Amino acid sequence: MKAAALLGVLGPLLLTDVAFSQAKPDHHPGHSAEHYAHTLEDPGRDAWQRPHEVIMALKLRPTEVVADLGAGTGYFSRRLARHAGKVLAVDVDEKLLAITAKGAPKNLETLLAALDNPRLAPASVDTVFICDVAHHIANRAAYWPQVVKALKPGGRVVLIDFEKRATAAGPAVEYRISRDEMVAEMAAAGLKLKREHKMLDQQYFLEFER
Ligand SMILES: C[S@@+](CC[C@H](N)C(=O)[O-])C[C@H]1O[C@@H](n2cnc3c(N)ncnc32)[C@H](O)[C@@H]1O
Repeated sequence: MKAAALLGVLGPLLLTDVAFSQAKPDHHPGHSAEHYAHTLEDPGRDAWQRPHEVIMALKLRPTEVVADLGAGTGYFSRRLARHAGKVLAVDVDEKLLAITAKGAPKNLETLLAALDNPRLAPASVDTVFICDVAHHIANRAAYWPQVVKALKPGGRVVLIDFEKRATAAGPAVEYRISRDEMVAEMAAAGLKLKREHKMLDQQYFLEFER
């Protein structure tokens, strides 16, 4: 899929952010889950998202519990499951989770979250992985502490999102969260930036710990 088409799908999603709506379940107006899935799973995405390199950079332990928060169709969840003990694919969209669950490996479970609550058990996760999702979450100041509570001692939050500048893929610039804003939001939730990977041209890739 061409970048313009990806923008066409990601753009309308951002209406939710503009309205700061917590109650609207249809976060991709005008697009079916199937259409959205087609975009997320587009093989052309691999060239800039570099999922294999991203996962290798995480140096996952084979016993690790990973929550893929905002998992969508499981683009990352399936790949994470090859390197982790257990992967929880968490999303607010049941239809996308059903796509993730289809043919999933035994160590991949789906979890239906609420828009304002990831519904992860306290101290249950080693790595919370969040890719291209943060800008969809309203009231993040209240949301991030819930994510932090889900971390086991020594756990981390991994955040990948689009740089706040024009890039070939991604949502309109005004809806993006800059790298520095993200670092500040995580600091407010009690997390420090521990590692920063520079392998993605259009996105920042950050690891946070307590
Ligand atoms: C652009 S997609 C990214 C999907 C996946 N992370 C990937 O990289 O392929 C954004 C995903 O975030 C999910 N999402 C939106 N708001 C959410 C929320 N408050 N909590 C959890 N997931 C959310 C959407 O349903 C969608 O699947």
